[in-house]
Amino acid sequence: MSEGPSRSALEFLGALAGGLVHEIKNPLSTLKINLELLKEDLQVALPDDRQLLRRTAMLEDEVRRLEAVLQDFIRYAGVRRLESSRVQLTDLVGEVAEFLRPGFVRDGLELAVEVEPVEFEVDVRLLKQALLNLLLNAQQAVERGGHICVRGGGRGERAWVTIGDDGCGIPEELRERVFDVYFSASRSGTGLGLPTARRIAEAHGGTLALEPQAGRGTTLRLELPVAAP
Ligand SMILES: Nc1ncnc2c1ncn2[C@@H]1O[C@H](COP(=O)(O)OP(=O)(O)OP(=O)(O)O)[C@@H](O)[C@H]1O
Ligand SMILES: [Mg+2]
Repeated sequence: MSEGPSRSALEFLGALAGGLVHEIKNPLSTLKINLELLKEDLQVALPDDRQLLRRTAMLEDEVRRLEAVLQDFIRYAGVRRLESSRVQLTDLVGEVAEFLRPGFVRDGLELAVEVEPVEFEVDVRLLKQALLNLLLNAQQAVERGGHICVRGGGRGERAWVTIGDDGCGIPEELRERVFDVYFSASRSGTGLGLPTARRIAEAHGGTLALEPQAGRGTTLRLELPVAAP
């Protein structure tokens, strides 16, 4: 396995990317506001010109898409210094599960949570983000009537969480690629969910990996040290 770029190279790239994002954000919001105004003007001046309306709608879609790309990127690149605090694993997983439950109920999915109490030190915001990404992937992978189970506990100096689903599964040849930045098999996906979650795990001195799959579906395993790095 390759070592990857050094920490200082990563920090440099992170700072560079952060600057670029910042420079893109402002003109993008100016574009958005002016597009909105232009649309209003056009609706008054040329209310029957369907082609113009279609074109402005297309521009709006693309601006929205760019905004989403930036948001995802900020989430990925924004994993830097941790703000760790002592929390209970059951509380943390419980909060993420309850946040997502209405969507799971709407989709006719069963969400089970079986987590043992373990106290550990993590950056709560980042870890919730990682769990959210993994649970959203599971939600997208299962059909109506499917099951998703979050398990967790502690073993020695490490806390672990698994997110298992009985959905479509990941084909053998894609098992490593799914962690690549911008790899996505879905039309609407950006492909930053898993790499962001892995980056968050690693920032904590932990790991995120696929479990060997016996039957149907997919299981991801997150392991973190109970003490902050
Ligand atoms: N639980 C899962 N079951 C089946 N396939 C999965 C699962 N989790 C991830 N994948 C596959 O891995 C790919 C990459 O996941 P990742 O979360 O990084 O990106 P994404 O979900 O496509 O987009 P997004 O950036 O919106 O999360 C997915 O497109 C999907 O093909
Ligand atoms: Mg995803």
